[in-house]
Amino acid sequence: MSDPIGLLSGKRIVLGVTGGIAAYKAAELTRLLGKAGATVDVVMTEAATHFVSAVTFQALSGRNVWSSLWDADQRGMAHIDLTRGEGGADAVLVAPATADFLARLVHGMANDLLTTLCLARDCPLLVAPAMNRQMWEQPATKRNIAQLESDGVAILGPAEGEQACGEVGEGRMLEAQEIFDALVAFLQPKPLAGKKVLLTAGPTFEALDPVRGLTNASSGKMGFALARACAEAGAEVTVVAGPVSEKSQPWRYARRIDVVSALEMRDAVLASLPGQDVFIAVAAVADYRPVRAFEHKIKKGEETLKLELVANPDILAQVAARPDAPFCVGFAAESRNLAEYAEAKRKAKKLPLVVGNLVQDGLGGDTNQVTLFDDTGAHPLPAADKLNVARGIVSHIARLMKCPQ
Ligand code: C5P
Repeated sequence: MSDPIGLLSGKRIVLGVTGGIAAYKAAELTRLLGKAGATVDVVMTEAATHFVSAVTFQALSGRNVWSSLWDADQRGMAHIDLTRGEGGADAVLVAPATADFLARLVHGMANDLLTTLCLARDCPLLVAPAMNRQMWEQPATKRNIAQLESDGVAILGPAEGEQACGEVGEGRMLEAQEIFDALVAFLQPKPLAGKKVLLTAGPTFEALDPVRGLTNASSGKMGFALARACAEAGAEVTVVAGPVSEKSQPWRYARRIDVVSALEMRDAVLASLPGQDVFIAVAAVADYRPVRAFEHKIKKGEETLKLELVANPDILAQVAARPDAPFCVGFAAESRNLAEYAEAKRKAKKLPLVVGNLVQDGLGGDTNQVTLFDDTGAHPLPAADKLNVARGIVSHIARLMKCPQ
C-alpha cells in the first residue's frame, strides 16, 4: 500500500515462524520488514523448518536465524536476549501462527524457543493465525483466540478464501503486505484512543440522466489515508465515501458508508454525527447539482443544451454551525492564493483547522504537500506520500485537541 521505506527504521522485530504452509509468505514479510528499516530476528519452530529453510530467512534478514533453545549464543540465553534488554524487540510477530502454536501460547508453555521467548518477553505480541477452516472453526481454537485476545495478544486475520488443502473458508493467513501494514499501524502512537472520527472522502456524482452526471477528479486517496491514520492513532473511524475507485479494495480501518450525491452524503453525515469527537471533511463535494435529473437518457438534438443547477448544501458548514459540533477540520484545495483562500474559508465556516493544498500538488496523485491553518498561523508539512501527510495532520489535530501524545 504505502512506500515501506523508513516506516520501521530503528525498530527491532522478532518474527516467529511456525509450521504451516503459509510459512512461505513469512519470507516476503521478512523482506518487507527489512525494506522498511526494521532489524528482523527470525525464530523458527522445528516444524517451520520443514516448510522453508532457515537459509532463506538468513539471506532475507541478513541475520542469524534461531530455532532451538540449545542454539549456542554468547550467553546461552537466546530466549531472553532476543526480546529484552538494551536493543530489545519492539514487537514479537508470529506469522504464520498454527493452531498448535496458539494452543501452546494460551497455556504459557515453554517447550521450544519461540514459546519460551513469548513467555519471557516484555514487548507486545501479534499473531497471524493460519490453518484449515475446520481447525479455525473448532470451539477449542475459538476459545484459544478469545483467551489470547483477553491476554492482550493482537490477532491479525485470518482471511477467507481458497486454502492449500483445496477447501474454501476462513483460516488462511493474511498476505504479507496486510500483516506488514497491521504491524506498522500497531506501532503508531495512539493520541486519538477512545475518540470517534467521522470523515467524508472522494467526489460526489450529481446525476443528469441515468448515465451522465457532474463530478470531479477527486480520487478519495487523501480521505482514505486520513481514515487509516486516524484508525492507527486509536480512533473509531467512520468514512462516508463518494464514488471512488478504492471501492473494491479491502477495508479494514473503518466503518464505510458509500454514497453517490452530495445530498446523500449530507444525510449520511448527519445520521452518523451523534457521539463523534472529530469531523474531517475531505470530500470534494460538488457545489451544484442539476435542478432535476432526467428519467431517460438525454438525446442529442439542439445546438445548445441549457442545464439549470442549484447549490448543494455545504455539509461542513452545517456540521460546524451546530451547537454540539465536533472538532471540525476542512480542506481547501485551491489553484492559487492558497493562504488567503484557506484562511477565508476557515473564518467563514468557523473551523479550528483547515488543511490547504494546491490542486496541482495533490488531486488524484499519491503524494501531497499541505499547509495547516489554525488560530496560531500557517504550518507547512513536508511533501510526502498521502499516508505520511495524513499522519502529520492527525498528530496536529491531536495537539489542538490537547489529547495526550
Ligand atoms: O468552500 P469549499 O467547497 O472550497 O470548502 C471545502 C471544504 O468544505 C472541504 O473540507 C469540503 O469537504 C467541504 N465541503 C462540504 N460540503 C460542500 C462543499 C464543501 O462539506 N457542499
